[in-house]
Order: sequence, then structure tokens, then C-alpha cells
Amino acid sequence: MTESLPQTPAAAMADPAVRVMFTAEQIAARVREMGLEIARDLKGMSPVYIGVLKGACMFQCDLARATPLDVTLDFLSVSSYGSGTTSSGTVRLVSDLRNDIAGAHVVLCEGVVDSGLTLSFILDLLRSRKAASVRVATLLDKVPCRKTPVPVDYAGWRIGSEFVIGYGMDADERYRNLPYVGVLEES
Ligand code: PRP
Repeated sequence: MTESLPQTPAAAMADPAVRVMFTAEQIAARVREMGLEIARDLKGMSPVYIGVLKGACMFQCDLARATPLDVTLDFLSVSSYGSGTTSSGTVRLVSDLRNDIAGAHVVLCEGVVDSGLTLSFILDLLRSRKAASVRVATLLDKVPCRKTPVPVDYAGWRIGSEFVIGYGMDADERYRNLPYVGVLEES
């Protein structure tokens, strides 16, 4: 399915066709399921949902709203891609958590796990901060792209090597505000 970009001021941009991979409705339904699954697994706990900015921003907030537990939020920012569409392999901490996570039950929220290099770096960081437990939730898991093994506890969907945009994910910082996940069609 191909869908025109929504004509909102924020999205009134040059118009390459976007092939829709997951609609807003599909995402909402899947994220609701994930929130309930996490709530069952973490029953009685007050987890902190740590979002990996910027790609996880939509997913983290929707997942938190879908989780009937006492959830708190924190954020990390790392940089792992340059301006291209493949991982540079270099991960750098751009901004740190606000709160101490020693003893906390963490759900690390990612938009997409690709090579696994970002996640591996962040998991090392969280372990060094003495979190009581760390679970990984990602909307998308690009399993064929893995360069290093990483644990993924909750995945919305496993996909191939497509470069995905929308619902928080970008191409050169654009398209994050699309309500669906898509792939830019070759022009
Ligand atoms: C993307 C994505 C993940 C990371 C995954 O972030 O949001 O954090 O890449 O890639 P990896 O598994 O190959 O390390 P990106 O660096 O593009 O920054 P952004 O979240 O600000 O878009």
C-alpha cells in the first residue's frame, strides 16, 4: 500500500512516496498488547521506561500509556548513525539519564534494533549503574542486520533490512512525525 504524506503543516514536505509497512491502527493494537504483556510480567513492580532518543519517543510514550502499572519515564540519547542509512558502528552517549537507576526495574524502549551496537552499548551502561533488572522492548527488530547478539524481550514485529521511517524514526531527521511506519520508495 502506498499512502501520501499527511497534509499537516509539520508534514507538508517534499513528497516521495512512502510504502506503508505498519499502519497507525496496527501499531496501536500491537503496542496495547505489548503493554499488557509487560504488565503481566512485571506485576507489582514500578518500572522505569527508558527511551532511547530520538527514535523511541513515540513508542515509549504509547507503551507507557498501554501499561497498567506505576511507570516512570527517563531518557537517554545516543548517536549511532551518521546522515546515511546504515550504522556507522560508533556509539556515543549524547545525553544521560536524569535519575539514578540503581535497584530499578528498567524497560529499555527502542524504536528499532538494527546492528545491536546501540543496544549493546546501552545495556553495558545500565548494568554498570546497577539496575535490578533490564528488559528490552522494541517496536521493530531487524533480526537479519545484527552485528552483535543482544537480548530483545518484547518486539512489536521482526522485519528484514528495510530502512524504516515514521512513528519516531527518521531519514536525516525527517518523517519522525508520520503516524505510521513506512519505507521510502525508490524514485
Ligand atoms: C536508531 C534507532 C536505534 C539505533 C539502532 O537510532 O533509534 O537507537 O539506530 O541501530 P543499531 O542497532 O544499528 O545500533 P539513530 O542512531 O538513528 O538515532 P535516532 O534514534 O535519533 O533516530
